[in-house]
Amino acid sequence: MIGDCYIKYLCLTLCMVVCGAAGMGPDRVQSPDTMENDVAIIPQPLEMKRTKGSFPLSDGVIVSYRDAGAENSVAFLKNYLRQYYGLALQERRSAPHRSAITLNISEKPQAPKGAYELKVSPEYIEITGYNEEGLFYGVQSLLQLLPVCKSGAAAGGDTASDATAPVLQIPCVRLKDAPRFEYRGMHLDVVRHIFPVSYIKQYIDYIALHKMNYFHWHLTDDQGWRMESRSHPRLNELGAYREGTIIGLFPGKGIDSTRYGGFYTIEQMKEIVDYAARRYITVVPEIDVPGHCMAVLAAYPEFGTEPDKPVKPAVTWGIYNRQNNVLAPGEKVFRFLEDVFNELMDVFPGEYIHIGADECAHRWWEESAATQRFMEEHGLKDTKQLQEYFARRVSDVVTARGRTVIGWDEMVDNGLVDGAVVMSWRNEKGAYRAMKQGHRAIMAPAAYSYLNIKQKEKEDTLCHKSRTVSLEKVYGFEPLPDSISVADPSLLMGGEGCMWTEYFPHKERLEYGLFPRMSAIAEVYWSDRKARDWHRFLQKLPSQFARYDLWGANYCTWIFEEKRSDSQ
Ligand code: ACM
Repeated sequence: MIGDCYIKYLCLTLCMVVCGAAGMGPDRVQSPDTMENDVAIIPQPLEMKRTKGSFPLSDGVIVSYRDAGAENSVAFLKNYLRQYYGLALQERRSAPHRSAITLNISEKPQAPKGAYELKVSPEYIEITGYNEEGLFYGVQSLLQLLPVCKSGAAAGGDTASDATAPVLQIPCVRLKDAPRFEYRGMHLDVVRHIFPVSYIKQYIDYIALHKMNYFHWHLTDDQGWRMESRSHPRLNELGAYREGTIIGLFPGKGIDSTRYGGFYTIEQMKEIVDYAARRYITVVPEIDVPGHCMAVLAAYPEFGTEPDKPVKPAVTWGIYNRQNNVLAPGEKVFRFLEDVFNELMDVFPGEYIHIGADECAHRWWEESAATQRFMEEHGLKDTKQLQEYFARRVSDVVTARGRTVIGWDEMVDNGLVDGAVVMSWRNEKGAYRAMKQGHRAIMAPAAYSYLNIKQKEKEDTLCHKSRTVSLEKVYGFEPLPDSISVADPSLLMGGEGCMWTEYFPHKERLEYGLFPRMSAIAEVYWSDRKARDWHRFLQKLPSQFARYDLWGANYCTWIFEEKRSDSQ
């Protein structure tokens, strides 16, 4: 437990520096003299200047704003301060106030979405967003200027009414900030393991706190169908539940016999969409077709290439190519796809609809006489052309409603349909290949972005162990290196981190995989290339760890254990 001790030591040091000792001194006010080197904002802002002094934030400080567009930001700021610090701000719909926090929106149409300025002076705090989301990100930076030790947070008790609420000294700074990339996302697989709505909201808060703006929600796969379907209710009756789950690391030590599953109702999904939107996060829902469809076939075996063989939702992982999980081409299947993608678009209003398109084993099509007949009738020379045909049919449904298709990078080999955005997971090259053909792309290369893969060589925690995705590797990923020649780099929309949940059945394990690597990903896609600095990121981590503590999140502390063992 060397690591735990070391982290506690780091956090203790940090608390003493930031809070002026637990309890914040006899008058419970921090000394501004202790406030040097105390700014640790992740992701690193574009321009930041620490100036002298600090602003005393206490119970009852006014937060003033004029624009209705500021309401989401005001609500987030107030909730955070109440929840984590027991402070209650007074909200005023009025002109800027002296000795207050003022939130402005000053629309600058040419400014990137998310650009803002933040000024903290000893007298007042002013955040100016060049658009609504910019204001929201300015609030996130302000929250990261707060003292971050549990003792500081707890000093005032848990409720806003606690008379002993602390005065929090906010270091004076001037920030000018804007994101590098327009798409900064996190993915969550709720198929292998499902998470309650309350936790999905918590996950969305984590995304917001990292100034990320897309939540990629992987809703269907071989092991379950997780969205309510009114057009095809058997997807929920039969497709949403598996009879057990593999025990241990694949290929496993058997299958437990616990029925597992569930699905999100339309109302719940709409609630999530609304919750995310109030944090300037767009939900990108995914229905994965035409492979990864065992849960569909469990409900509707007639949609498969072996309609007479009963199928059940998979109880194990890694079934690609081993068990038949592909849809068969045919009008009844295309009608099914039209129905479920329309249901999806009724719930999710965002521009992007993820259609999967990964890991479809063509052997099942090659071995099916009916599929071969379909291909002949439609002039499809090989199964690559068939997969393209599938993608086109689904894309037609999506684009008919003015939406845009995202597909995993197998699309580049098997059907890059017009206007599709490619999400590159096998490596980075899929994105560059798509961009060379004039398509937009999003990075999610497994070697740098899959947070379900082990993060240290000797990993005791159950997770994918095929390789190591260390924090340093995640942080070091450059999406547009100099060595890459693409005519239009602006086609790269950004990137995301992925959390596949085979080995992540609950919050503690999930967050151990997530943090601090998600914080590194936030910096990769937000911060200017020149502003990224691994050593500075390491220096900021103890503060970030203290923030995870404040949020009640679990995290992996190994990076400091590694540094320690290196130096011994
Ligand atoms: C994937 O990991 N199959 C996208």
